[in-house]
Amino acid sequence: MENKQNWLEYDVEDMVAGDKDALWHHLKPHKCFETQEQMIIVEGKGLVVKDIRGREYLDATSGGVWSVMVGYGRDSIADAVCAQMKKMPYFAGVYGNVPSIKFAKKLLEKLPNHDKVYFSNSGSEANEKAFKIIRQASHIDPARKGKYKIMYRDRDYHGTTIGAMSATGQAQRKEGFGPFVDGFIEFPHCACYRCPYDKTYGNCNIECARKVEDIILKEGAENIGGLIVEPITAGGGILKPVKEYYPILQEICRKYEIWMIMDEVVCGFGRTGKFWGHEHFDVDPEIITMAKGLASSYEALSATVVKQKIFNTFLNDPTNPETRLNYFRDISTYGGCTSALTAALESTRIIEDENLVDNSVKMGAYLLEKLETLKKYDVVGDIRGQGLFAGIEYVTDKTTKEPITEGQMAQLMGNVMAEKVIVGRTNSSLNGMNNVMNFAPCLTITKEQVDTIVAAVATAIEKTF
Ligand SMILES: Cc1ncc(COP(=O)(O)O)c(C=O)c1O
Repeated sequence: MENKQNWLEYDVEDMVAGDKDALWHHLKPHKCFETQEQMIIVEGKGLVVKDIRGREYLDATSGGVWSVMVGYGRDSIADAVCAQMKKMPYFAGVYGNVPSIKFAKKLLEKLPNHDKVYFSNSGSEANEKAFKIIRQASHIDPARKGKYKIMYRDRDYHGTTIGAMSATGQAQRKEGFGPFVDGFIEFPHCACYRCPYDKTYGNCNIECARKVEDIILKEGAENIGGLIVEPITAGGGILKPVKEYYPILQEICRKYEIWMIMDEVVCGFGRTGKFWGHEHFDVDPEIITMAKGLASSYEALSATVVKQKIFNTFLNDPTNPETRLNYFRDISTYGGCTSALTAALESTRIIEDENLVDNSVKMGAYLLEKLETLKKYDVVGDIRGQGLFAGIEYVTDKTTKEPITEGQMAQLMGNVMAEKVIVGRTNSSLNGMNNVMNFAPCLTITKEQVDTIVAAVATAIEKTF
């Protein structure tokens, strides 16, 4: 007889001790656990999570990193995954499987200008694939010979692996990991609140985009194959470029045959009030990467989606017929895992059937309106956002825009948490500039929940300053 174990059972004290003894947590200085207990999340329903001590929190972060789009406790995702796992749990992506075919078709329906979908497991990996595609193309396509360098923007984040970090514009986050990969070039960001060129929108000629051409020419356009951006910068502080920005950037990229990679890891799947973040702009990137909201993080999945002309570079590899590959030399063991694809199919069905992108528009506008009321506080310097993705930039002085310290930020966050609300923040990423609190709740959020979140932040501001 099968020996059935109930993996949902646990002893509370055993888990608390086990957490301390066995786990190495992400981004956590473990010294704090000498005096305080780690929060262990055990349950979730909608936007509410419960910890192992029975305390409930309203989660304004969609799982801490902006990814549980459809909320917690979706039985239909669990049921679909269970059925698929029983039928066929896994086979390597060198062969086909039904969920990956269905989901690739769904993605292409959502991206009508794109033609091929390559699956992997994480946002970092999806971006690594994009870089590898550009690099391999620079070897096999005579028209792209030597075009191996990738440009990236200050304040953007593209992942945790060494390649993806080499393409990340967050200096503090990169400390201690160098030397980085050759051939990655940074360019200034496009944040009007702190314009890198000291200009004011309306009177700036969109310098932040136009100057990219100077950097390309200085580096040598013949060496540059790609340029990666987040449609709206997430971890770097919720930065939405002005509407003219991407069309100018795209024109420059096309002039020099530089493939634009749009990193939709955070913004995709309705987060910003359109299905894709880049749909807010008149832009048509050659490569689009995505993860997080893809399967609402019920399973790990990412994708790199390209236009036909890029796929054709590999299909029609014109190098020596004796030695050529005719394929993209890359593999990802879990990319295309059937259960992740099934979770993605069901999560996307929920987003569509429950009109969650519309809710992101409506509740996003309401969230921004409510956050604007916090401008009455001296420490609230800027409020910005799009859809259900918003940020507050805290300053000590509204005129000088001097950021509050990371210590003050940590204290403020603790005070929000004391109100039983979880919000996010820039975390040791940008030297002296970790002063943005962010909000990215599940797309199912209600008005009352928005009110609770904003009230908790107001109370925390009053307690802290
Ligand atoms: C814009 C962006 N790209 C890529 C990544 C990396 O994704 P992952 O953590 O799944 O590797 C992140 C993670 O936060 C991100 O915010």
